[in-house]
Amino acid sequence: MKDIQDTWAKKAKNEGYRSRASYKLIQINQTHNLIEQADLIIELGSAPGGWSQVISNKKKTHTKCLAIDILSMEKINSIDFYKIDLYSDEFAELSENLTKKPDLILSDMSVNLSGIKLVDDEANLELNLFCLNLSKKILNKNGALLIKTFSNQNLKKLKKLFEENFKKVVVEKPPASKTSSAEVYLLGLVPK
Ligand SMILES: C[S@@+](CC[C@H](N)C(=O)[O-])C[C@H]1O[C@@H](n2cnc3c(N)ncnc32)[C@H](O)[C@@H]1O
Repeated sequence: MKDIQDTWAKKAKNEGYRSRASYKLIQINQTHNLIEQADLIIELGSAPGGWSQVISNKKKTHTKCLAIDILSMEKINSIDFYKIDLYSDEFAELSENLTKKPDLILSDMSVNLSGIKLVDDEANLELNLFCLNLSKKILNKNGALLIKTFSNQNLKKLKKLFEENFKKVVVEKPPASKTSSAEVYLLGLVPK
């Protein structure tokens, strides 16, 4: 199994992607064409830039993408990067002053692990709920929200919340996501 997982890291290196995470987005996007359909994309937790590279390659020329992270990220063609915390006033201001509604909100965010599972699970749930609430405020009427979450005691509750807020909800575990990792992706399509 380790060999298969290492293959994604090697492939990323050979193909010039900054992280193996790029393939997770490529694989999820293959089924749903999320990036190609969007005119404005908000990407949360973008560093080091693997997803941003995929967005930059696949988006329409005129499509804008705002990428956010608390860590620095080297420039990627046609991606507007903001080094800010999602929970900051700067982010609130940015999201409240968009000139149009985003069609796609993506989050590959997770918290730095404390090692205490319950604490980490709650902090990740808080990040997930922040994304869901953000989508309720600003997502376009045919838009989509894709977030990283974890297969744990919170997933059922989170999925139910997604189902209350989106017409279609899909749980994705792309082949590039380590089978040993509890991470899964929740996709909400078309807000209710
Ligand atoms: C798994 S990495 C993202 C990898 C990225 N998708 C890629 O392909 O390169 C998760 C990122 O979420 C960011 N993050 C976590 N909490 C955040 C917060 N509150 N505000 C902004 N970024 C955050 C981390 O700094 C980290 O860079």
